[in-house]
Amino acid sequence: MRAVSADVLVIGAGIAGLSCALALARDRGRRVVVITREEDPEESTTRYAQGGIAALGPEDSAELFVEDILRAGAGLSLRRAAEIVATEGPKLIRELLMEQARVPFDRTPEGDLHYTREGAHSLPRVLHVGDRTGAAIAQALHALLKGFPNVELVTRATAVDLITFPHHARDPLTVYDPITCHGAYVLKQETGQVYTYLAGATVLATGGLGRIYRYTTNPPGARGDGLAMAHRAGARVINAEYIQFHPTTLAVPEGENFLISEAVRGEGGRLLTPDGRHFMEEYAPKWGDLAPRDVVARAIHRELTLHGYPYVLLDVSGIKDFERRFPTIYAKCREVGIDVPRVPIPVVPAAHYSCGGVWTDEWGRTTIRNLYAVGEVACTGLHGANRLASTSLLEGLVFGARAGRDIAKTNPKPVREDQVPPWEYPTDGAPADPALIHRDWRSIQYTMWYYVGLSRDAHRLSRAIRDLRHLWEDIVDFYRRARLTDELLGLRNGVQAALVVAEAAWHNRTSRGVHLREDAPTR
Ligand code: SIN
Repeated sequence: MRAVSADVLVIGAGIAGLSCALALARDRGRRVVVITREEDPEESTTRYAQGGIAALGPEDSAELFVEDILRAGAGLSLRRAAEIVATEGPKLIRELLMEQARVPFDRTPEGDLHYTREGAHSLPRVLHVGDRTGAAIAQALHALLKGFPNVELVTRATAVDLITFPHHARDPLTVYDPITCHGAYVLKQETGQVYTYLAGATVLATGGLGRIYRYTTNPPGARGDGLAMAHRAGARVINAEYIQFHPTTLAVPEGENFLISEAVRGEGGRLLTPDGRHFMEEYAPKWGDLAPRDVVARAIHRELTLHGYPYVLLDVSGIKDFERRFPTIYAKCREVGIDVPRVPIPVVPAAHYSCGGVWTDEWGRTTIRNLYAVGEVACTGLHGANRLASTSLLEGLVFGARAGRDIAKTNPKPVREDQVPPWEYPTDGAPADPALIHRDWRSIQYTMWYYVGLSRDAHRLSRAIRDLRHLWEDIVDFYRRARLTDELLGLRNGVQAALVVAEAAWHNRTSRGVHLREDAPTR
């Protein structure tokens, strides 16, 4: 029988999943299994976070940081979540990232930590490793995890569905119990076999869903897998309409999806129209180029639609030592023929971050017993209607560790193998046709981009919902008939995540933060 039993199953190996696994790993008697659908364990959205991780700068305070989070969140951020990250975050950065994992954060020539500034932060407080902060953190945490033999990391393993009682129970009397998670069915990509992974606690750390949009800063794995699985299992999902668009991604075909960090503006980069007009002062006189992300993305969107520009420009000529401070961006721009810092970078907004997600309390607990969610897949309330820059790694770090601590305290035990039926193969039919998968993905992405994008109205949203429901039916039918693959699972999750976002956007008739309804008032 293909079954594995562990105390804790963590699905996803970015900063949130690893922070949780490390919080649990110190008890050497506890068996933790971390699965990732990637071949390279360090591949996750964490790896692509350029700007940094917000801490407390020299003149800073937790109170000021909280106020910045709440202001950026447009009245929808939960103060308690902001207080937790502002007070626990700096300590975890010091102890876990710097002392234990030895992340080499940049320093000044005098040897002090270098803090940069990003949009809507009152002062410089963002720690970074050049412009590859996420990659450096992922590398260091994976190295640290290797020292714990009680943690097993399994690659090329895609979660198919959560195992929940009463849904998957052999005992019919579990129908009277609260819904409880007991692990997940997991597809091993090499063999195409589905294994039953039983666990006392299951942690969703699957990241976001940017790939449901035509243009995004997210890597291919950001397909909404965790959100879709939790939704299917009946977990509460909130604030899904709040999709943050990053104002600046590279606008050349060879550079699609490449992020130009907000830290570039923090260090003096300025936005201008192709004919040389600085426009951010018109939209945000107080903050200019460093206004909150929703304001900057919308200002660019307006300039593009009003004047028909294909992009706006980011002038980086005033940044001292650009190549040393932003080596990844420098190399990419040179590779596609942009002679930075002399020549400005053409940029456009792209889908970047899901501020909502699977509802959790302050310990990462979802509405399903023994199911936790941490990082981008979760909604702790921190980001409200618009996330403050460089708080995503921080949230993953803090709430990953909190979920770990809570699991260590409650210590739920896995059920027996004979209590759960093995996976029933929908079919042993032919593998899914890649042309159909590609075509369906394009339909989802264009629908979301044009109808559920930076600006929305009832007409576009109802069209999106109708089209996506239709597509969903086709895809589910396809899923039942074809042989299971990672690609097919991603498509099924992608269309479901897109529907969740579109329906949430339809229901919310108030414009707030990143959710702009052209047909509704602004709060
Ligand atoms: C960036 O570097 O601009 C992205 C950082 C973030 O999304 O917080």
